[in-house]
Amino acid sequence: MADNPTDLAERIAELKRERRAVILAHYYTTPDVQAAADFLGDSLALSVKAQTVDADVILFAGVHFMAETAKVLCPDKRVLIPCPEAGCSLAESCPAAEFAAFKARYPGHTVVSYVNTTVGVKALTDICCTSSNALRVVESIPREQPVIFAPDRNLGAYIRKLTGRDNMVLWDGACHVHEEFSLEKILALRREHPAARIVAHPECKAPVVAAADFVGSTAAILDYCGSAGADEFIVVTEPGILAEMKRRYPRKRFIPAPPTDSTCGCNDCRYMKMVTLANIAECLEKMAPEVVIDEPTRRLAERSILNMIRIK
Ligand code: 13P
Ligand code: SF4
Repeated sequence: MADNPTDLAERIAELKRERRAVILAHYYTTPDVQAAADFLGDSLALSVKAQTVDADVILFAGVHFMAETAKVLCPDKRVLIPCPEAGCSLAESCPAAEFAAFKARYPGHTVVSYVNTTVGVKALTDICCTSSNALRVVESIPREQPVIFAPDRNLGAYIRKLTGRDNMVLWDGACHVHEEFSLEKILALRREHPAARIVAHPECKAPVVAAADFVGSTAAILDYCGSAGADEFIVVTEPGILAEMKRRYPRKRFIPAPPTDSTCGCNDCRYMKMVTLANIAECLEKMAPEVVIDEPTRRLAERSILNMIRIK
């Protein structure tokens, strides 16, 4: 098997043609993986894209819950995941059995779950959401109707604040990447760059979100950086997104926000970075590992994802 990046990229292109495969990749993967992708997007755009791709095989360059979402929506396609160990600290913070017990404590609540969950949790959910559409999803539910929001406590608290709904119960989960930004260092960086706008993902802690000029999903942040009348941005989300920012806006400056001292020095999502050109090529070669979901669970999960996609 070829192992230098150019040979690997060529081998992947060849295998994609042979297998009638497309590669969907999240913005947090490495730049070389992003370059090998047919579609690059945030979690909402990738779920929607999975439904309409003209291919026999979808290779998901991202974390496990994203590949599962593609399989739920495309049961007739083979969905491959090059690195099944690429989990998500947020999805792992909400095991399905514990979530079922939590849900039983709040009868009559509508369950809204972030897509960063396992298929088992999606099957217990009424409407999924992503960071792009969480506000619209919650606002689509009558105001007097109580809601369970899972699993991200920061996104949940942010939506609760925006909507003023005090009838939202939050699951206590979090993402290890977004909880580890240092507010102190972000503010110090802004003092060095007073014209810079702070853009943050809503998975960050409340004080970081409150200090931001713009809060949104990866796709919303990308759009904002194009339309905002500023040339410099302090980016408070996973730094993989910087590759797309520089591609889209080569004249603008993007400064990754500093992590807290308790990290290894960066805010990389260790799971997203497990996807490599080498494991993509091997996966297409062997047509494995493949995502498999039992049909009753898939159907329940599909309903919650389609309920979200209908809201847009
Ligand atoms: P997006 O919904 O912005 O793609 O975020 C996915 C994610 O995993 C954030 O950590
Ligand atoms: Fe999960 Fe956080 Fe990685 Fe997103 S950045 S995939 S929420 S661990």
